[in-house]
Amino acid sequence: MKHLLSLLFLFIASAIHAEDGSQLWLRYGTNAKSATVIANTASPTIAIATDELRQHFRGATVSLLKDRALQPEAFAVNTADGKVTITAGDDFGLLYGTYELLRQQETGGVHNLQTAPKYPLRVLNHWDNLDLSVERGYAGKSIWRWEEIDGQNGTMSEWMQQRVRQYCRANASIGINGSVLNNVNASPNILTTDYLMKVKVLADAFRPYGIRVYLSINFASPMVLGATTTADPLDSSVAKWWCAKADEIYQLIPDFGGFLVKANSEGQPGPGDYHRTHADGANMLAAALKPHKGIVMWRSFVYGANHKGEDRVMQAVSEFKPMDGKFADNVILQSKNGPLDFQPREPYAPIFDNIKKTPQMAELQITQEYLGQSLHLVYLAPMWKEFFSFVSPDLLKGIAGVANIGDTDGWCGHPFSQANWYAFGRLAWNPDMTSEAIANEWLQQTFTGEKAFIEAMGEVMMSSREACVDYMMPLGLHHIFKFDHHYGPEPDGFKAEYPIEWCPVYYHKADKDGVGFERTTKGTGATKQYRQPYSKIYDSLETCPEEYLLWFHHVAWDFKMKNGKTLWQNLQVHYDRGVSEVARYCDVWQQMRPYVDAARWQHVADLLDTQLDNAREWRNVCLNYFGSFAGK
Ligand code: GCU
Repeated sequence: MKHLLSLLFLFIASAIHAEDGSQLWLRYGTNAKSATVIANTASPTIAIATDELRQHFRGATVSLLKDRALQPEAFAVNTADGKVTITAGDDFGLLYGTYELLRQQETGGVHNLQTAPKYPLRVLNHWDNLDLSVERGYAGKSIWRWEEIDGQNGTMSEWMQQRVRQYCRANASIGINGSVLNNVNASPNILTTDYLMKVKVLADAFRPYGIRVYLSINFASPMVLGATTTADPLDSSVAKWWCAKADEIYQLIPDFGGFLVKANSEGQPGPGDYHRTHADGANMLAAALKPHKGIVMWRSFVYGANHKGEDRVMQAVSEFKPMDGKFADNVILQSKNGPLDFQPREPYAPIFDNIKKTPQMAELQITQEYLGQSLHLVYLAPMWKEFFSFVSPDLLKGIAGVANIGDTDGWCGHPFSQANWYAFGRLAWNPDMTSEAIANEWLQQTFTGEKAFIEAMGEVMMSSREACVDYMMPLGLHHIFKFDHHYGPEPDGFKAEYPIEWCPVYYHKADKDGVGFERTTKGTGATKQYRQPYSKIYDSLETCPEEYLLWFHHVAWDFKMKNGKTLWQNLQVHYDRGVSEVARYCDVWQQMRPYVDAARWQHVADLLDTQLDNAREWRNVCLNYFGSFAGK
């Protein structure tokens, strides 16, 4: 019987043709060519919408109606008597409505819906270098193959054309409307005329899909490029250079979005090099962009420069709070969701409590730098929703996501990492969506609508982030990663020649008495940066949520926790649970064979094996290490 069943499975599986993931969640299946599309407006954007509907919509008639009275980008889908009408304030809204209609078709049926984006800024941040390497990229090289873009003639190679088209479709289908093309550790060369002409080619290709181009800039660009002798933001030759550069960019790209800036952070140049403030630097750039309606997204990710010796997680507030109100009105402060650096779990970043006058954006990391990279199945939406449960989405002007995209066929390395790109877009449009709903629709579009598959894998996705926290760093442990590559465990990591903030031992402070970083009023006082009631809750050992325990407290090994077990026993429970969860995912995936094409099934099966090995390594290394202090 068992033998027969597996034969049957094999038969069904081989009938599902092999896929490489390159279609992402846009596997509309049919080449329907059945719909009649009527539009009351014409543009390249409407041509794309019409084409998508003709190719893929299985209904009879769709009307695209522009109604200028409506808010830009917002749209409504209405269906009556087999006829669908999409109404929107602009052509981009009609395109978003088109992708929504196709999504509905693939995920359970066309229905009425009215929706508007929560934020005007829904932006991917690519950490792509001009040499095609990708900082913290785990899916091949950059998709921006600069050599294959001819700036003079405005053309791209065949590969680029296809890749860019699919990139734009994917982003438009989830409402992403901005793309920062290059790494925040930016090369000044991106601002040379040669590169700007190539950037223009991309911007022209993105435009009909509603995606604006932004660039990360190196603060010292005018000086490094040899045009000035300083990069001092208060020097008139510097300000003048930036104005002229902005003019040049807008000549080429009239809807250019603006600059993203990492300044005086991890060795990057900035206004601090000239004893100027971040506000001085940001405002100088903002003035250059202002006549063109461009913005500056200034990152608050700074440590080590002006606040040496201070607890790293406190430094952004220390630096930026006194500057609140001093920024020009086209500057947005962009902060990571947590105060440290994209750990599997961090408390929210208190900068969101402290900045009152300056517009703020949240920076989320889609690429799983600290969550198993492209080798672990970890669905990030629950982590981002956790952030939104502390920081009201109403507080923000936009969302940025550090992209996990590379030039591999499947875009993101792990087939399930595509879900994080997808979820980022969906949440940036509507942060009220549940993680379950997003996982559900992604699974249906990316794999199959089979109920058994959706239920099983939906559960795996939903529990995967907590499993990762458990096998890597439970109970508020953080940054005990192997040096530099941030993949495996290295709790004993210390290198005298590096800044202490890069060393795991700085973060866990394990000794014979206990483990954890005392950030209460008895320690560094980081808890004071939080609004009430969190400040009070986190400050007390009795009330601090256990998931943040060792983030805020140095706790005795035999401290009795809520379940009556000691801290040391609980650490073991968490690490064991993390490992057994991944073992369970491997079993679940075995059952999924009938539902998935052989190529993707095998790929995920192999990756889950790796994840299980890694989870065991994390548990063994960490428990051995901490056990040596806990005296077990
Ligand atoms: C992390 C990451 C770096 C990155 C930095 C940033 O530290 O490891 O590669 O440059 O964040 O966000 O600027």
